[in-house]
Amino acid sequence: METKKSYAVVTGASQGLGKAFAENLAKKNINVILISLPNQNLKEFSQDLKELYEVKVHYYETDLSVNENVMKLTEWLNRSFDIHILINNAGLGGTKKFTEATADYINTILQVNVAATSLITHQLLPNLLKQPEAYILNVSSMAAFSPIGFKTVYPASKSFIYSFSRGLHEELKGTSVFVSVVNPGAMKTNTDVCKRIEKQGFWGKLTLLNPDKVASYSIHQLFKKDSVIMVNPISWLIMKLLPVWIKLPLMTQAIKREIES
Ligand SMILES: NC(=O)c1ccc[n+]([C@@H]2O[C@H](COP(=O)([O-])OP(=O)(O)OC[C@H]3O[C@@H](n4cnc5c(N)ncnc54)[C@H](OP(=O)(O)O)[C@@H]3O)[C@@H](O)[C@H]2O)c1
Repeated sequence: METKKSYAVVTGASQGLGKAFAENLAKKNINVILISLPNQNLKEFSQDLKELYEVKVHYYETDLSVNENVMKLTEWLNRSFDIHILINNAGLGGTKKFTEATADYINTILQVNVAATSLITHQLLPNLLKQPEAYILNVSSMAAFSPIGFKTVYPASKSFIYSFSRGLHEELKGTSVFVSVVNPGAMKTNTDVCKRIEKQGFWGKLTLLNPDKVASYSIHQLFKKDSVIMVNPISWLIMKLLPVWIKLPLMTQAIKREIES
């Protein structure tokens, strides 16, 4: 694989799993382009990666919940770089009664998780198809495998990512682009997520993962051409075996604890 001239693009790269993806790629001597919201210390992180791993690093700060920003970002990427890896990691969710969620909260989740992932992939695909070998990794979640009350739009958005990724994988068979999806369970990424997981009790802790391990395992499996990457096979098996009438109320109860205390 040509990694000297071409780049890997990572969205949501300033923190959590995205930061771990960027570091892991740089360690493998792959040039990276980091994307995040403005004012997330991306410049400093880029500098660190350049110095530590002697790779080329570029960064771009933008709010991916605005479609116009997504189009500007992808135009810049296509104009300036050859891209052979795209990691659609940016994504967010939360726990709220649906009646108490604002329109803005719902719209941001849908825009970042669903619209930005689809549009970035669509706009960068011609660039990826020009490379001799290219990879797309979309970050879904274990939440893709069950509806969950008090999260509602988040698991639905991750089901979309799972379905979208598998469909595109099938469609691009026989091309140079390989599409994969990873479905992590809960990870200790930021303080908000950590607090939420602690309140979930058994279910949260059952699937708890380290973002660095998730990133390195996912990249390893991506290059091995694993189209559905399961980082926690035990919880995946439980999700697969349990019928929805059991897992839906169980998970909803566990999640409800986050907003009760
Ligand atoms: N944490 C978990 O337990 C867990 C479990 C399963 C799946 N996931 C998925 O893993 C991915 C990374 O999660 P994380 O926990 O590491 O992230 P996080 O710390 O919760 O931060 C949210 C991520 O989305 C990006 N983001 C949020 N709003 C954005 C916006 N308007 N425009 C651009 N980027 C935006 C952030 O990027 P910047 O801050 O860099 O701008 C950040 O990477 C997400 O897709 C998430 O759904 C997380």
